[in-house]
Amino acid sequence: MQLSEIYEPVKDGLVQVEEQFNLLVEGKRDTFPELHQMLRHVLVGGKVVRPALTLLAGRCYHYDLSRLLPMATASELLHIATLVHDDAIDEADTRRGRATVNKLWGTDKAVLLGDYLFARAGEFAAATENIAVVRLFSRTLQIISSGELKQASSAFSLKQSFDQYLERIAGKTASLMVMATESGAILGQAPPQGVQGLRDYGYNLGLAFQIVDDILDFVGDERELGKPVGSDLAQGTITLPSLLLLERQPRDNPIEKIFRNQDKQENIRLALDMVRNSSIIEECYSMAADYSVRAAGHLKQLPESQARRCLRALADYIVKRNK
Ligand code: IPE
Ligand code: IPE
Ligand code: MG
Ligand code: MG
Repeated sequence: MQLSEIYEPVKDGLVQVEEQFNLLVEGKRDTFPELHQMLRHVLVGGKVVRPALTLLAGRCYHYDLSRLLPMATASELLHIATLVHDDAIDEADTRRGRATVNKLWGTDKAVLLGDYLFARAGEFAAATENIAVVRLFSRTLQIISSGELKQASSAFSLKQSFDQYLERIAGKTASLMVMATESGAILGQAPPQGVQGLRDYGYNLGLAFQIVDDILDFVGDERELGKPVGSDLAQGTITLPSLLLLERQPRDNPIEKIFRNQDKQENIRLALDMVRNSSIIEECYSMAADYSVRAAGHLKQLPESQARRCLRALADYIVKRNK
């Protein structure tokens, strides 16, 4: 299934999220033209997986857009804020096929814009007037920042385990997917079992999603992805493919040299080639597929509906995607 088909049961909601974004952008046109330009630049062009998750989770129960819409908007805003900060930290040049905020406006302004977006996201979460959802939002932001902190602290370190990798991607990526699905379930007035099922779905989906993102950093097409490939190794970030490469060849590994800043570009190319010419990518895909199957399994606790079928299809989609 294509994303547009998967989003079909909530397409009215997604159009309204876009309208909320337009209001946000237009609200600054006269009063703060530079912020207007920045917002116009970052609030477009994503796959909108997270707001779709919030809306689809709600769609499995009571689809009340007056409550779901602000939270779906918050989910995407929170995601975009993390991307703006992530690109500033990584000094990345491109995102979603366009220049990054840090590239166009500088790192300082990118940090401040990220803060602004976090705050706006919080305001949308608060507009649900649901304290459980607001608490979930705050906790998620804590988890994401700790995850990113852990990644920064372990950068350029070769001594990393699979469990540490999982913990990191759970923090930086799966937590946001959990927030998206759990909040949709709560606002859709799902029973406790439905809330738990959607939490577990979001968690496993998030792990699969990040493993695929990490695979695409080795084998993806830069133009299609809209962001650079090979950037994880350049940033000193060990992900599943490089973890497996280190395991196979613990001695005289190009990753070691990259991290020691020894012929960096040459060794990045070598590491990419070694991974591409091995069965590592296949193994990574098989792990991602495992988590995707687990995600789908948790949907069995939900009542049968078109929205549930679409969540299932989304779990398949995120493994097969090439952007
Ligand atoms: C990118 O997320 C960041 C990760 C968690 C891997 P997406 O791949 O959902 O990015 P957009 O929103 O579609 O640009
Ligand atoms: C997602 O991971 C990080 C965030 C939570 C922002 P990546 O660092 O792999 O994301 P990309 O590849 O830059 O999109
Ligand atoms: Mg990044
Ligand atoms: Mg990545």
